[in-house]
Amino acid sequence: MSSIPLAQPEIGKREEELVLEVLRSGRLSLGPMGERFERAFAAFLGVEDAVAVSSGTAALHLGVRQLGWGPGDEVVTSPFTFVASSNCLLYEGARPVFVDVDPVTLDIDVAAAAAAVTERTVGLLPIDIFGWPADWPALEALAAKRGLGVLEDACQALGAVDSEGRMVGSRGNFATFAFYANKQMTTGEGGMIVPTDAAAAARLRSERNQGRAVDMGWLDHDRLGFNYRLSDVSAAIGLAQVEKLPRLLEERAAVAGRYAERLAGVPGVEAPMAARGREVRSWFVYVVRLADEVDRDAVILRLRERGIDSKSYLPSIHLFPHIAELGYREGQFPIAEAASAHSLALPFFPQMTEEQVERVCAELAAAVDATRRGSAQG
Ligand SMILES: Cc1ncc(COP(=O)(O)O)c(C=O)c1O
Repeated sequence: MSSIPLAQPEIGKREEELVLEVLRSGRLSLGPMGERFERAFAAFLGVEDAVAVSSGTAALHLGVRQLGWGPGDEVVTSPFTFVASSNCLLYEGARPVFVDVDPVTLDIDVAAAAAAVTERTVGLLPIDIFGWPADWPALEALAAKRGLGVLEDACQALGAVDSEGRMVGSRGNFATFAFYANKQMTTGEGGMIVPTDAAAAARLRSERNQGRAVDMGWLDHDRLGFNYRLSDVSAAIGLAQVEKLPRLLEERAAVAGRYAERLAGVPGVEAPMAARGREVRSWFVYVVRLADEVDRDAVILRLRERGIDSKSYLPSIHLFPHIAELGYREGQFPIAEAASAHSLALPFFPQMTEEQVERVCAELAAAVDATRRGSAQG
């Protein structure tokens, strides 16, 4: 029986055509394809401009620098995220201050964030986790009230819609996106940052390119910079993906819909919410919550034996050694930690067939049944 992977990019003829165009042009970096990709991405999001970089992490790092966060500064953020959300603060010597998440959305709990603001707090770094929009109106109100900068980690949420009906990343904050191969759209490796104005965009374009202004010569640099450029080969893949992004998002939503239908009657498995009021999830991963008495790791092993990839997704990052050493320990964020202990990412990609969804759900139901702690078969 063929195995079902966790994720799979959808690469077609148009990607091949545009990559060939770049290869034949001889402009493999800093060429016109990068700009075409940026313009198409900005148009999709409905923003003025967007700056392509080599990864979501690079986008976050440049965002932290734009906001001027550094040593002695505290930034309130969520522990239930991918580690890059906080590593970007550590790169600049700023301190992530974690607060727990909302039990339903798994995004940062706004009341907890408000309570964590001190005179050292300079900003908020909320994450739209698993493609669910954070409570942006409330977070922006908090930021305005306390004079805080905002960096939006929308790396998992391209296309998600918030409670005011606006697409995440389009509200006027610095916002970051990521294009690793499992994301809603991919460039292989890559990322994007939405600037707040033209001056910010110019500085971002300089900092991603070794600190060289657009109109400067090859070896002239007027500030500290990085090599965070996205190659034109990657941008070509990105342009092809943006062109079909509405369809990719629809297909992901359709697969999620099939999962939800099929999992509705499975005991011990809670499916993720697709929408609530005006909020709409953008489907990055399909993560279910297993009941406390189910042995999640045994489920993963059993699914693997049946040729189905799944993953415990994701760990709470305050417990990683390099972050825990800032003074964090187990038990501090019970909602995030419980989500980490009981969440399971299932295979999820736009081309997933009904038969594949059916097979995953049947095997999951059997695995959950067999691995309930205390079960005779367990
Ligand atoms: C929430 C979040 N932030 C940041 C990143 C970093 O993106 P990249 O892997 O492109 O550096 C990711 C990637 O998975 C992510 O999920």
